[in-house]
Amino acid sequence: MPAFVPKTSRQRRNLHGRRQGRPLRPAQRRLIEETLPALAIDLPCQAGGLDPAALFDDSVEEIWLEVGFGGGEHLAWQAARVSQTQRPVGLLGAEFFVNGIASLLRHIAATPAERCVRIFRGDVRDLLEALSPDCLDRVFVLFPDPWPKLRHHKRRIIQSQTLDRLAVLMRPGAELRVATDDPTYLRWILEQLLRHPAFDWTARGPQDWRRRPDDWPPTRYEQKALAAGRRPAYLVFSRRAG
Ligand SMILES: C[S@@+](CC[C@H](N)C(=O)[O-])C[C@H]1O[C@@H](n2cnc3c(N)ncnc32)[C@H](O)[C@@H]1O
Repeated sequence: MPAFVPKTSRQRRNLHGRRQGRPLRPAQRRLIEETLPALAIDLPCQAGGLDPAALFDDSVEEIWLEVGFGGGEHLAWQAARVSQTQRPVGLLGAEFFVNGIASLLRHIAATPAERCVRIFRGDVRDLLEALSPDCLDRVFVLFPDPWPKLRHHKRRIIQSQTLDRLAVLMRPGAELRVATDDPTYLRWILEQLLRHPAFDWTARGPQDWRRRPDDWPPTRYEQKALAAGRRPAYLVFSRRAG
C-alpha cells in the first residue's frame, strides 16, 4: 500500500532548517539504523487515521507530543519520569534533524523510557494531519526557530494553521507548553494564542511565565539562551472545552 502523503505536503516540501549536521558517528548510525525502526511512526494511508495509543505496546491513557525536540533532552527526561512513575503516558516526538534523533535515541535506548516513546522523523505538520482528533493531552513546543525576518514569518511553527490543527487534536483541558527566548517571537506567540478561540493562557502573574515549572527540564537551546544572557519565557496554555 502506498505511504500516506498528506495533500498539502507538496506545497510545503521546502523544509527550512537542517536535516543533518555533522556526519553521524558509527554509534549514532547504528542507533538510527537499528533502534529507530522499532520506535518510528509510519503515517497511515488516511489523514486523521492515526490513533497514537495504538503505537504503544503498553496501554496508555494520555498522549504527549513534543514538536522539534532537538537533542531530545526534554523528551528523554519526560519519558524517564513517566516510566519511573508508571504513569500511562505515551510520548510522541517529531524532529527532522537526524543528529537530534540520534541524540534522543542515545538518551533512551535500552532504558525503560524507550517503551514510552515513538518518533516521527519528518515535518511535524504531516504528523499533525495524520493524527486522529481529540488524541493529545500535552504538546510541547520548546524554543522553536524564531524566523525573525518578515518574509520568513510564514515558516514559524506557531501560527494560526498549526493552532487550528492543534485545537482539533487536543482534548479539552490539554496543555500546550511553549518556550522562547526571542522577545519578538514571544509577542507573536502571545498574539497568535490570545486571539485563538480554543486556547487560554493559564498565567496569573509574571512568575508563572518567568520561571520554568519543576516538571519542565532545561533544553539545549534554553541553556544557550541563558549563557548568552537572554531570559526565556515559559508559557502554558490550556485547550478550552467545546
Ligand atoms: C531551535 S531548535 C530547538 C530544539 C529543542 N526544542 C530545544 O529547546 O533545545 C528547533 C528544532 O525544531 C526542529 N523543527 C523545526 N521545524 C520543524 C518541523 N516542521 N517539524 C519537525 N521539527 C522541526 C528543528 O530541526 C530543530 O531541531
